[in-house]
Amino acid sequence: MSGEIVIVLGTRPEIIKLAPVVRACETHGVPFTLLHTGQHYSDSLDSVFFEQLGLPEPDYNLEVGSAQHGKQTGEMLVGIERVLQKHTPETVLVQGDTNSVLAAALAASKLDTELGHVEAGLRSFDREMPEEVNRVLTDHASDLLFAPTEGSKENLLAEGVPESRVTVTGNTVVDALHRNRELAQQGSSAVSDLGFEGREFFLMTLHREENVDDEGRFRRLLAAVSRAADRHGVPVVYPIHPRAQARLEEFDIEVPSPVCLVEPQDYLDFLLLEDEARLVLTDSGGVQEEACILGTPCVTLRDSTERPETVAAGANVLAEHDPEEIINSVDWMVYKQDGWENPFGDGRAGERILQAVAPKQEVEL
Ligand code: UD1
Ligand code: UDP
Repeated sequence: MSGEIVIVLGTRPEIIKLAPVVRACETHGVPFTLLHTGQHYSDSLDSVFFEQLGLPEPDYNLEVGSAQHGKQTGEMLVGIERVLQKHTPETVLVQGDTNSVLAAALAASKLDTELGHVEAGLRSFDREMPEEVNRVLTDHASDLLFAPTEGSKENLLAEGVPESRVTVTGNTVVDALHRNRELAQQGSSAVSDLGFEGREFFLMTLHREENVDDEGRFRRLLAAVSRAADRHGVPVVYPIHPRAQARLEEFDIEVPSPVCLVEPQDYLDFLLLEDEARLVLTDSGGVQEEACILGTPCVTLRDSTERPETVAAGANVLAEHDPEEIINSVDWMVYKQDGWENPFGDGRAGERILQAVAPKQEVEL
């Protein structure tokens, strides 16, 4: 055993949410190896975040790329196992619910290496979502479970996970926001560069498989969002994820006005857009959290959420994919005043996670 931590990541949200853990390792001189699966590889989903968040180059990139879930996960498993056998780390750390996370969880389990899961215990209770299966399996393979909230801890205990394995840390998304919100306000001009005015636009992200891979549903969602925005006389800025872009082309969908397609945004530009939007519409997990923390009302275009804290706070509503429900939800949320509490912690989750992973390194909070 080397006392080392191997941090595995593969997609945009993992890069953003593991950055605070990497920073904590650097601050406290804890040795780590960064292993990128290559699940995301386009600059706009990958390298731009390494640069902006000041992350070191990954020590390994498996360059697995896009494929069917089984093939993609299987190739990652083989590659991760190889790296773990070479490094024999003390702990493997993963974050979230992607195929990269499941592959790393399996690889660590097979080698009987301690596994830590950042953002453990989230549940949508919808097993049709690939992310739900990934997070349940990963939680049950994990030795150290970093639950962002008491609610996520309760989910784990209800499934029989021993309490001794669970630490409530807050969500590292808050650490990242605390560090970058002001930088975005000072350094980004994304709103004006894209030709919009503060508070005079809605921001949308829509990329989930269940929403964009179904042509009928994707068309209905776009049409409903367009009608909802028209009622308030504002454009909808839609930074498009490559999966959704590919489906627009495949289904030959023309995006209805006033929805405006823009390129995927870098982190600071996206944070400014979220901060300045009158309302956010999304099917993203991370964006529901960020909107809640930033005080921007959110309408979630899904049937379920694994972030119920945002709904309980009054910051978010689930509009499912029914057009009338979407229009009513927008009408309701657009006048919401930010007065809710941030349920995701104090921005020191990265430090807490490192303290639990590396107590021998005497990480002091
Ligand atoms: C994945 C995660 C999802 C997460 C999202 C974050 C799984 C099962 N899904 O979804 O939970 O919310 O990442 O953004 O792990 N593509 C590119 N460039 C890239 C990556 C993907 O063009 O760098 C395109 C390809 O056409 C690819 C498609 O996007 O087929 C889907 O990529 P994939 O990584 O399979 O899933 P995501 O939709 O990104
Ligand atoms: N994000 C970004 N640019 C964009 C869209 C999203 O930087 O154009 C960031 C956003 O701030 C959040 C993260 O990406 O931190 C969310 O990732 P995504 O929606 O891809 O995945 P999910 O959270 O749904 O797993």
